[in-house]
Amino acid sequence: MQAKKIAAALVAGFTALTLSACGNGIAGGGSGSGDGAKTTFRLAFNQTEQHPQFKAAEELGKKLEEATDGRYSIEVFANETLGSQNEVVQNVSDGTVDMMYIGGPVLESFNQDFIVFNLPYVFDSQKAQAKVFADDAVMGDLKASIEDSKKITVLGALHAGIRNVYNAKQPIKSPADMANLKIRVQQSDSQVAMIKDMGGVASPMGQGEVYTALQSGVLDGAENNETVYNSLKHDEVAKYYSYTRHLMIPDYLIMSSTVLEGMPEADRKALLDLIPATVESANTGFLEFAAESKKASEATGAVFNDDVDTAAFKAATADLVKSSINNPVRQALYDAVQKANAES
Ligand code: GCU
Repeated sequence: MQAKKIAAALVAGFTALTLSACGNGIAGGGSGSGDGAKTTFRLAFNQTEQHPQFKAAEELGKKLEEATDGRYSIEVFANETLGSQNEVVQNVSDGTVDMMYIGGPVLESFNQDFIVFNLPYVFDSQKAQAKVFADDAVMGDLKASIEDSKKITVLGALHAGIRNVYNAKQPIKSPADMANLKIRVQQSDSQVAMIKDMGGVASPMGQGEVYTALQSGVLDGAENNETVYNSLKHDEVAKYYSYTRHLMIPDYLIMSSTVLEGMPEADRKALLDLIPATVESANTGFLEFAAESKKASEATGAVFNDDVDTAAFKAATADLVKSSINNPVRQALYDAVQKANAES
């Protein structure tokens, strides 16, 4: 018994030491300020400081600091400074980065069931998407599914716009216009299969590499919402943006389960209680940001084309959707989406 107590004291001492060593921002589990009293979580983000998700995360940090009497705060690292989503998610899993925003398809490598929301033409509207994401009976198990196995807690699911194809060559009106176009996708098999079915050639890569690849002609185009198109300056090097409206993929706010579990209960509750407002603020801000981004791209000479045969793209990708809904978990999620579509 005594030996156990000593061992526990040693472990506690070691942890405290580790936390203050983190003041240099070297390791995760929060970075202590040196006096062991304050922990600053590092939150990785792959877009700019103007993005509403960045602002919502900063706000979350401030409110968390208030709610925990200064014990916890958040530093948001924008512009992929902590690495691409594909890399950083490994660090969240091993607890060396505390939190991040991540695109849905990247989570598929941890649990393939996440695929349901990343398939083409699944959601009819943002309202339907919000309805599904707000329903814990639908989302609870999926969100919790990678806690034990990967030590990742999904705190919230966010609207991340509607994705459309853009390229340097021509407006896209039908799948035939995609022939031989090399289009960047997020790093996941579902996204590769989708572009193939849409008629193009998929090239998976992290977001930070896309501009240079477009500029050098390694890529002909990419697919994303208006905010990425403008803020990452893809509009300079791929001026045809066509409303294929093929995807409404969520982003997730995720956290290291180890770090979350390591918080005192009241502080953890304070953090979890702040999440719904964080998600709402990011979602609301997104719509305005997308509209502003489109205007800004137009001002640089980008051409927005809404003459697109979306029915043809939907038909071309229908088999992918069907073959991906291949177990009861995915079927239940898909049915919930269909119900929300019908009700919204
Ligand atoms: C969107 C999304 C990001 C994602 C990015 C991408 O911007 O919000 O989470 O990483 O697209 O295509 O990589």
